[in-house]
Amino acid sequence: MMIELQETAKTYESGGGRIKAVDNVSLKVDDGEFVAVVGHSGSGKTTLVSIMGGLTRPTSGRVLVAGTDIWTLDNEHLARLRSEQIGFCFQFSSLIPTLDSVDNVRLPASFASGERGSPARALELLETVGVKDKARAFPAELSGGQQRRVAIARALVNEPRIILADEPTGDLDEVTESEIMDLFQRLNKQGVTIVMVTHSQNLATKAGRILTMNAGALEAGAAV
Ligand SMILES: Nc1ncnc2c1ncn2[C@@H]1O[C@H](COP(=O)(O)OP(=O)(O)OP(=O)(O)O)[C@@H](O)[C@H]1O
Ligand SMILES: [Mg+2]
Repeated sequence: MMIELQETAKTYESGGGRIKAVDNVSLKVDDGEFVAVVGHSGSGKTTLVSIMGGLTRPTSGRVLVAGTDIWTLDNEHLARLRSEQIGFCFQFSSLIPTLDSVDNVRLPASFASGERGSPARALELLETVGVKDKARAFPAELSGGQQRRVAIARALVNEPRIILADEPTGDLDEVTESEIMDLFQRLNKQGVTIVMVTHSQNLATKAGRILTMNAGALEAGAAV
């Protein structure tokens, strides 16, 4: 089991009201699965994947990632688990403005040993996502879609076993979108476990399983 949520909940207190963003969700994602998460705006999709990735602390319940109960870890160990096991492709995952594409991609590998963080490998990853020609460009010199590709290359630099993606192709053109989906499918075939939030029913059908969130709860786990 790669990811397991056990009775996981997240309640926000705001303006005198309580919002159950995630309402006692239990869920298992197998090693090597490709799961799409769909649902209306505000149904809790981002909160759910943030909890899985150790970014948002749940109010109750447990989250196991590759067998580790992640929310019992201290900050340092949680940060290490995140950087070693998980690649995040979030819609507004921002690049460091003062670093060019190569150095943005290398950054998460700077804590790891070995060749992962070499400029040559960063170039390879930029080629994989189709922006090798922008290797020495700074984020401000890139289009939105190019920035997204660099961010995806950055998410891959530590060879994560898990990719958590929150609308990774949101507001990209159809060609770019399908290229990024092809890349995700290739990575999945190589054994990477993927959980991807999307608003697109069409993209969701490319996953192995579709989960639907509704008011914080998981509606169904229909196989496709
Ligand atoms: N930091 C926060 N403080 C208070 N409420 C929050 C916070 N983050 C999210 N919420 C609320 O939790 C609920 C779920 O939000 P979430 O971002 O997970 O939804 P979503 O399914 O990702 O929506 P979208 O499709 O619009 O991205 C919403 O009602 C939202 O207003
Ligand atoms: Mg969201």
